[in-house]
Amino acid sequence: MHHPLPWHRIAHHDMLVETTHDERARLDTIAHLNVFAAQRLAPTVKAAFERKGVTPIDRHEVRQVMERDPAFRAWSLVRRNTMEMRQKTGREIVGRQRESLRDKADRLNLGNDAKRSRLHLDPSLDVPRYVAGVDQHLMQGGYTAEWLNRDVSNAANYDAGMFATVGGSAGPHNDAAGRALCEWLRREFPAFVPSRIVDLGCGLGHNTLPLRQLFPAAEIVALDVAAPMLRYGHARARALGVNDIEFRQEDATRTSLAAHSADLVFSTMVLHETSHDALPRLLQESHRLLRGGGLCIHLEQPPYRGLNPFEQFMRDWDGRYNNEPFWSALHESDLRQMMTKAGFSEDLVFETRCVAPSWQSSRPTEEDFGRAPAWYAVGAWQAVEGSTAEG
Ligand SMILES: C[S@@+](CC[C@H](N)C(=O)[O-])C[C@H]1O[C@@H](n2cnc3c(N)ncnc32)[C@H](O)[C@@H]1O
Repeated sequence: MHHPLPWHRIAHHDMLVETTHDERARLDTIAHLNVFAAQRLAPTVKAAFERKGVTPIDRHEVRQVMERDPAFRAWSLVRRNTMEMRQKTGREIVGRQRESLRDKADRLNLGNDAKRSRLHLDPSLDVPRYVAGVDQHLMQGGYTAEWLNRDVSNAANYDAGMFATVGGSAGPHNDAAGRALCEWLRREFPAFVPSRIVDLGCGLGHNTLPLRQLFPAAEIVALDVAAPMLRYGHARARALGVNDIEFRQEDATRTSLAAHSADLVFSTMVLHETSHDALPRLLQESHRLLRGGGLCIHLEQPPYRGLNPFEQFMRDWDGRYNNEPFWSALHESDLRQMMTKAGFSEDLVFETRCVAPSWQSSRPTEEDFGRAPAWYAVGAWQAVEGSTAEG
């Protein structure tokens, strides 16, 4: 069994919460329980399903035979409880340092001549209901909650707890998706050097920062609707020595950025947290923002199409038990077709897989590919004006 490294090995920066010995031990226990659920309990659910000898036509039929099965219930219970424990532990840790975290964020976010503030909040922004009205993955108050003025509490909880939820697999900076995207770009398109990059739904900027390393000269704009995430994300970037990423409070389905102003538009783990109405609009906005020859790419969990009904059923857990209301619908959507409808030329739309290099090495080894976190991605190149799709 792979064991996560202890929580205290995650990358420390000035915005990270302060923890006691017991709190760290609790986060480590949760991380280990998550790994145990994935590596030890999940195979017992599969074995129990196979013993039933049924051939279901879809994940709904699998659910009918498995919902009351003890192996499934044990796995599901551990997953649900680890998420509840993670959120509760995070709330307790953050709760006693809310004010000091807010003050630290204020100090880091404040602009001065040497380091102009690149945090742009818009208190008049109409935050969509599918963000502001949802306690995503059991996070009380969701991304937008403000328990005090200029709050960063839930963002700090998100940063501290992520390591435990993914069993440490995202690496010390929680940035495996961003590193996976960079590795894919480096391998597949080494000559592609964007001058302006837009991250749609950047959250804390975990997966934005690797792009800065790969493209040191690019202008990077990171957008999110949630002010607490942006306050923390901008401060975290500065605490890590990155002072030149623009963090803007904007709705990714209708940004204020100029049309055809970016060469790379991307998102990581955002599509499943949108809605039926917002998803096509976000893809249309990606298309509007791109210059000819530019690239749009969205990293996500894989669609259900192509997976067997049992795997679909297991992957659908978050939609039923982890307060992810759009999860199931997103994974049933035909994103390729939606990209075409959003305006991209059908020949230039693609699906691919991005694999994160091991965080211990700067380049992945073949061994890493067997076990490293990987993402499904849908993307498209923007046709160059006046050329054919083939050209
Ligand atoms: C699961 S988080 C992922 C954050 C980040 N991309 C990452 O990989 O860590 C989803 C983020 O998308 C943001 N979001 C959802 N809908 C959005 C929209 N229409 N415009 C901008 N941000 C949005 C949420 O506020 C949240 O911060």
